[in-house]
Amino acid sequence: MFNLSQKIGIDLGTANVLVYQKGNGIVLQEPSVVAIDKNDNRTLAVGEEARRMIGRTPGHIVAIRPLKDGVIADFEMTEAMLKHFISKVVKSRPLFKPELMVCIPVGITEVERRAVEEAANQVGARKTYLIEEALAAAIGAGMPVSEPSGSMIIDIGGGTSEIAVISLGGIVVSESLRLGGDQLDADIVRFVREKYNMVIGDKTAEEIKFEIGSALVEEEETFEMRGRDLMSGLPRHQEISSSEVREAIQESIDSILEAVRAVLERTPPELSSDIMDCGVIMTGGGSLLKNFDKLLSNETEVPVFLADDPMTCVARGTGQALEEIEELKDIIFNNRQKVYK
Ligand SMILES: Nc1ncnc2c1ncn2[C@@H]1O[C@H](COP(=O)(O)OP(=O)(O)OP(=O)(O)O)[C@@H](O)[C@H]1O
Ligand SMILES: [Mg+2]
Repeated sequence: MFNLSQKIGIDLGTANVLVYQKGNGIVLQEPSVVAIDKNDNRTLAVGEEARRMIGRTPGHIVAIRPLKDGVIADFEMTEAMLKHFISKVVKSRPLFKPELMVCIPVGITEVERRAVEEAANQVGARKTYLIEEALAAAIGAGMPVSEPSGSMIIDIGGGTSEIAVISLGGIVVSESLRLGGDQLDADIVRFVREKYNMVIGDKTAEEIKFEIGSALVEEEETFEMRGRDLMSGLPRHQEISSSEVREAIQESIDSILEAVRAVLERTPPELSSDIMDCGVIMTGGGSLLKNFDKLLSNETEVPVFLADDPMTCVARGTGQALEEIEELKDIIFNNRQKVYK
């Protein structure tokens, strides 16, 4: 019974960091944000606390997202953030160094992978394993990844979308896009600027997406947005409809759809028939866009389902993979090459 709680799975996401601890489940879920003082680069707050500071603090305090498009954009900030979150979870037991399993996107480069490992080692991990995000998502969604049948997963995060077919614990076919839910927010900001000559913030755009965004508009809804008029510079209200939001996000939705089609086309026939029978599972916060599963299902003629609790799938899968490390050893990314101290 020693050392049970020191196995930690981390979903180091662009939008959110989740920590899973053996025996306790999800113990932390916070936005991937760090607030720093621009004058001396000091870290002032991390996670939820840092997000609350945005827009409510003097100009020299800025909020940074250390990860962009699913990879580490600012190494030092990522390290500071990881350290903060891990120390929150692994309280005052310095002798028990944790074993970490961190998930990484499929398309990550060698340099980016090393940066993640380095950050994990810096926080005092005894061992660090890396796992591909799509695999962790599939494990978390309860798919039979080690069996000789095809499981297809679509994970849409904030900065990346991973689409993969897994069989016998390996990724057989995959596509990784550096595009996720955050791009939809940017699409909405651009649309509003072009159509209404009005500036809205990312936060407002995200709210519009949550409230009336849909991949397949079945019922027209409207949202009263507030922003600043580009001409007069003054605050202004404007109504926007679900169809307009759909128009704004068209291109991004199409890119995801195309990637899903490409994976299906490259999937070996035996595995395709498993996928037809069992369906595709969607995970990640981006998959919560209304009717996204329905649209993909209609367009590909393959059944698509939303996972239970899609935003925690990757973290739960990461933790589960660490618990079953012996059985999964051959398929965990890092283990194929080497284990980092
Ligand atoms: N109800 C919802 N409708 C639409 N989008 C949503 C909803 N809830 C969350 N999202 C979007 O999900 C995204 C965050 O998802 P998630 O936490 O899975 O990302 P992440 O794992 O941090 O990112 P990545 O995997 O790309 O590194 C954000 O873009 C957010 O706006
Ligand atoms: Mg993710």
